[in-house]
Amino acid sequence: MKYFLDSAKIDEIIYAYNTFGIDGVTTNPKHVMASGKPFLTVVKELSDWAKSENLDGYEKFPISVEINPHLQKKEDLVAAAEKIAKVSPNFCIKIPCCEEGVAAARQLEKEGIRTNLTLVFSPAQAIIAAKNGSLFVSPFIGWKEDNGEDCVRYIDDIVKIYKNYGYYGKTQIICAAVRTPKQIVDCAVAGADIVTAGLQVFKNSFYHPYTDSGLKIFSDAWDNTVTE
Ligand code: E4P
Repeated sequence: MKYFLDSAKIDEIIYAYNTFGIDGVTTNPKHVMASGKPFLTVVKELSDWAKSENLDGYEKFPISVEINPHLQKKEDLVAAAEKIAKVSPNFCIKIPCCEEGVAAARQLEKEGIRTNLTLVFSPAQAIIAAKNGSLFVSPFIGWKEDNGEDCVRYIDDIVKIYKNYGYYGKTQIICAAVRTPKQIVDCAVAGADIVTAGLQVFKNSFYHPYTDSGLKIFSDAWDNTVTE
């Protein structure tokens, strides 16, 4: 399973890459705002960092960048995506899953600009992303679970549908807005390709209280043993 970091903070991205080896990055306007930097500065930073690590190209290290969410017309979405895609070969453009967005993603994929159909909340939306050749589809887990919806069945259904029709692996499933280690496991068991989450979610997933108490037990034993 691939781990993407959901962040626009370059220091967090470098930390995660160097410590536990993330496979890609997703950003959104909230993350860019939280970085405190202008949008174009952030995308340039991401692009320069990928280059400095010899990770050029979305095949090696995809970076999902969301364009202006106010854009609602296919032509405007395509023009904005084309502009941002020129900044880096790592960029996959996040396009909202709505009628104009699907049409824009369809055209962009034909032009060779890779897309991530985002704000996906139903298996039916995931089907249309795959039918039109988006590289990624982003079903949001956390938002649905906050709303009391079952996400195990949701991801299971998308994986099953993709396997039924040969989309599996072609349009890669990024389980997004993942908030807990349990949700990471649910997505992995279902066979999702990728989870994207904030740094703290991944850090939490490396923790187990028995690991800490086990270290204490073994340290005490070590201290009561002749070891030299
Ligand atoms: C995913 O690609 C999104 O950036 C993200 O998961 C959105 O949700 P959040 O910011 O509420 O986590």
